[in-house]
Amino acid sequence: MPYSKIVGLGHHVPDTVITNEYLSTLMDTNDAWIVERTGIKERRWIDPAVDTVGNMGAKAARMALKRANLTEKDVDFIVFASITSDYYFPGSGVIMQRELGLEGIGAIEIKNACSGFIYALSVADQFIKSGMYKTILVVGGEIQSTALDITTRGRNTAVIFGDGAGAAIVQASDKPGVLSTHLHADGRFAEELYVRDPGSSRPHAERQADQILDTTGFKVVMNGNQVFKHAVVRFMEVINEALAKNNMKKEDIDLLVPHQANLRISQYIQEKLALRDDQVYNNIMRYGNTTAASIPIAMSEAWAEGKMQEGNIVCLAAFGSGFTWASALIKW
Ligand code: UT7
Repeated sequence: MPYSKIVGLGHHVPDTVITNEYLSTLMDTNDAWIVERTGIKERRWIDPAVDTVGNMGAKAARMALKRANLTEKDVDFIVFASITSDYYFPGSGVIMQRELGLEGIGAIEIKNACSGFIYALSVADQFIKSGMYKTILVVGGEIQSTALDITTRGRNTAVIFGDGAGAAIVQASDKPGVLSTHLHADGRFAEELYVRDPGSSRPHAERQADQILDTTGFKVVMNGNQVFKHAVVRFMEVINEALAKNNMKKEDIDLLVPHQANLRISQYIQEKLALRDDQVYNNIMRYGNTTAASIPIAMSEAWAEGKMQEGNIVCLAAFGSGFTWASALIKW
């Protein structure tokens, strides 16, 4: 049975930088509060005239293909992770596929929020191990900014989220790459971090445009304290699960790339795993929380900085809406 290996990484973030100072002109917040609670200094927001989830995914994919010395033609399947697709349906995987000129190859959508990229990687890993596909484009892309309530009422979510896309090329290989992936969910907490509308189980009248405008159902709703408490526990559990499965110890991790939810969460995990600063990759300071795009953007940057060398053990871990949580252990 072949192994699957990540042979290329890429990312794209919109040009517009949104600083904490700018947010404080829109709502009652301030740089000190945001940095102290989240570690975020700035994030990117799209220009609706320029960026879509699909075209940001395509830009990230082209960077990943170039770095892997491959072209669009080599891709035989797409796995696209996003909770903010350009249309309510279809998902943005097909929009990106069209942009890349790959009409005809399959594209599957993964809607698992912050855990989406690891779920997507796991799906690609299984398709490659089964022999069904050889070169899979795995992308996480999100536009959160246009759904945020950018008034004081929405400040606990508006300051956290950002836009962007990241891509990985996963290819069949004789040598091990993705060692294992671990996927979990607990739907009892579905409403602790969610967007209700346009939900299909709403009464007909409530899904009509004029009615929807009067509701707050489109807004991201997050019970931050609950999410934080569960996140720190689940992150540790799922990382330990990956280590145990591969008979490894925390000392074997060369680089941890956590989902960029909150710098405090990353620092907590770092302390529990006794990792040095250079062993945990964080870029939330610059991009905020980009949901399914956060891990592949971080991986793409970490790789470009030379932090992922052949033979290194790289651990990915995520927690988010659902709740879902997941990890992947990779031999680079
Ligand atoms: O990526 C998916 C997973 N998501 C996460 O992992 C997020 C996890 N949760 C968090 O990171 C944190 O809960 C937050 C950063 C969202 C919030 O931090 P917190 O320490 O839980 O703050 P809080 O919501 O308990 O709010 C504390 C205070 C409140 O004021 P009072 O009631 O104490 O007077 C809020 O109204 O801070 C206030 N507040 C703000 N103040 C300034 C909330 N948001 C803001 C803001 N600026 N943006």
